[in-house]
Amino acid sequence: MVEVVGTSLGNRAILGETVRADFPILVDRPAGEPLVYLDNAATAQKPQRVLDALVDHYRRDNANVGRGYYRLSHRATDVYEQARATVQSALNAEHLDEIVFVPGTTAALNLLADTFGRAVVGQGDQVVVTGMEHNSNLLPWRRLCAVVGADLVTVPAGPDGRLGVADFAAALGPRTRLAAVTHVSNVLGTVNPVRELTAAAHRLDVPVVVDGAQAVPHRPVDVRDLGADFYCFSGHKAYGPLGIGVLYGRRDLLHELPPYQVGGGTVKGVSATGPVAYVPAPARLEAGTPHVAGAVALAAALDYLAGLGWDDIRAHDEVLVRTAVEAVADVPGARVIGDPAADPSGIVSFVLDGIHPYDVGGHLDAHGVAVRSGVHCANTFVDTFDVVGTVRLSFGVYNTVEEIDLVHRALRTARPGLWTREHPTKRFL
Ligand SMILES: Cc1ncc(COP(=O)(O)O)c(C=O)c1O
Repeated sequence: MVEVVGTSLGNRAILGETVRADFPILVDRPAGEPLVYLDNAATAQKPQRVLDALVDHYRRDNANVGRGYYRLSHRATDVYEQARATVQSALNAEHLDEIVFVPGTTAALNLLADTFGRAVVGQGDQVVVTGMEHNSNLLPWRRLCAVVGADLVTVPAGPDGRLGVADFAAALGPRTRLAAVTHVSNVLGTVNPVRELTAAAHRLDVPVVVDGAQAVPHRPVDVRDLGADFYCFSGHKAYGPLGIGVLYGRRDLLHELPPYQVGGGTVKGVSATGPVAYVPAPARLEAGTPHVAGAVALAAALDYLAGLGWDDIRAHDEVLVRTAVEAVADVPGARVIGDPAADPSGIVSFVLDGIHPYDVGGHLDAHGVAVRSGVHCANTFVDTFDVVGTVRLSFGVYNTVEEIDLVHRALRTARPGLWTREHPTKRFL
């Protein structure tokens, strides 16, 4: 049992065991292949009802959407639009047509950079980002700035991994055309004060794009309360399927956007030579056949989360994160980066003195524990901590305190391996 003594929260996570049976991959393990899955920030496992929603869609309702004058196509269109309504309600968006289905967060941010970004950012302008962005919320803006001749201004986080609202506000100026910030850091789990950041930006009429990839699985998100002008997330990190995600955009902004990709589903009228008339958003931004089954299954995932209850999900995260922080602190030579227990969001990142994070990851894998180690697609942020990378424990609703206990025991036997000896400064993931 847990050697991580002293936790005032007790040893039981709120969810954990009680929901594990919902996740076939955790239950039906091949003999001899145990799985302690602690890489949920990369992608979460899927509950049976999400798998059922996917399969049932193909079994019952599959047809192309918005294109057919027959009952099955009407039904497919209906279930697709119902999925959109589920997302609208999950995000508390004001209007249904503010929800665009996209393949994922990366796709949403590239769409925004290439449409909204191109429309509002010009030569000599500025785009403000934070120093804690995932490459997916950094590189589209960096490329946009390079192409149009604008400046990318980065607001660094402090040594504790927190972003100062005053620092952010100070970076905004008359040349700032947009700001892009993550809601929750995928490296440290730090939760940004998005409401304060958007308020500061709006005082200068600067619209804010929020990357919600790590927030949506862990906390209720209200885009209006946050003041987000755009908000995006990936279904697969929120217990939904791969290949589907969401871009929310305030109606007045979204409806101004030109099409990102053009083609089927986006047009009102095309003639051989005349101008092309496009339909309004969201269809204007969903060129081609959408991932209908994915949208339906994503809606099932969001319903699943709502059914578990956000109070329990947050309490569960709190127990796991605090327990993990204590567990790591109890390992000689280990150091937690940032302050993940300040507002627990399911992520704890740490380093082990003198052992390359890939060696730690390999060692944990030998104990049946799956974690991510390295730079977590946030190279520039990880570099600010002067480490080659971190080991990241990221929790889902099915993880347990017992699993953290296992990690704790395994970490105490970690030793330098090949990476430490032969490639101490190399990292690529
Ligand atoms: C904060 C953050 N933003 C963006 C992404 C990219 O998400 P996707 O690969 O699903 O597009 C991730 C994925 O890890 C992330 O953690």
